[in-house]
Amino acid sequence: MAHDHHPHVRDDARQDTETPLDEAEHWEAFYRATDRHWSGRVNTTFAQHVAELAAPATDSPRGPRTALDLGCGEGADAVWLASHGWQVTAVDISATALERGRAHATEAGVADRITWEQHDLSQTFPEGQFDLVSAQFLHSSLRRDRSPLLRRATASVAPGGTLLLVSHGEFPDWAPQPRPDVLFHTAQETVDLLALDDSWRIELAGTVERDATTPDGAPARLQDVVVRLNRRTGPTT
Ligand SMILES: C[S@@+](CC[C@H](N)C(=O)[O-])C[C@H]1O[C@@H](n2cnc3c(N)ncnc32)[C@H](O)[C@@H]1O
Repeated sequence: MAHDHHPHVRDDARQDTETPLDEAEHWEAFYRATDRHWSGRVNTTFAQHVAELAAPATDSPRGPRTALDLGCGEGADAVWLASHGWQVTAVDISATALERGRAHATEAGVADRITWEQHDLSQTFPEGQFDLVSAQFLHSSLRRDRSPLLRRATASVAPGGTLLLVSHGEFPDWAPQPRPDVLFHTAQETVDLLALDDSWRIELAGTVERDATTPDGAPARLQDVVVRLNRRTGPTT
């Protein structure tokens, strides 16, 4: 989560999981509850994977490589991408999160490389196709089927492009448990939700561990479910 201690896991906790609540209201309230939720640092697993992709050629005739960040939150990953030469479209359901993202981008001197769009991605989706489509911890705290959104995300990947999905494998020990309102999909379940045709190559579908810090500052390890897919450029055999 653009930070290593997952404060969102605590802040996001809703005890009344049966109460219907509009998703936009939920996330807007989540962000308004504090001046800033995330650290402003790029997600480490995300950055490691993007670093393995072909570097964006800013002088290419077709322009810089493009990225779509779904559920961008306060924009740390989008700002990091823009700082590394990508042209980014960053999307979130929360206007407050997007405002913070814009301010961060201006501070970082990359405002001209990021377009911010407000969507409830289960309803509307940004236009176009992108070299990288990313969803980092796009969990919903409501009981929602993520598959239509994820399938729509695959359609946004340009031929030759990458889809990079990172989710929690489980909540950390220090988070309130249990959380029956949040579904944890394994990598294989995530792949199954995507209903891929053979134009896709699975580069990674698994669980990786990373270093984290508990809210009390103690070192910890967390599990991320990572699905990284490449959309083939040509016909498959
Ligand atoms: C757990 S946060 C992750 C934020 C960011 N990707 C990160 O890693 O720090 C999930 C984000 O997804 C956004 N989100 C949740 N449901 C959404 C939806 N239906 N459409 C658009 N954004 C959504 C939330 O507002 C929130 O910013």
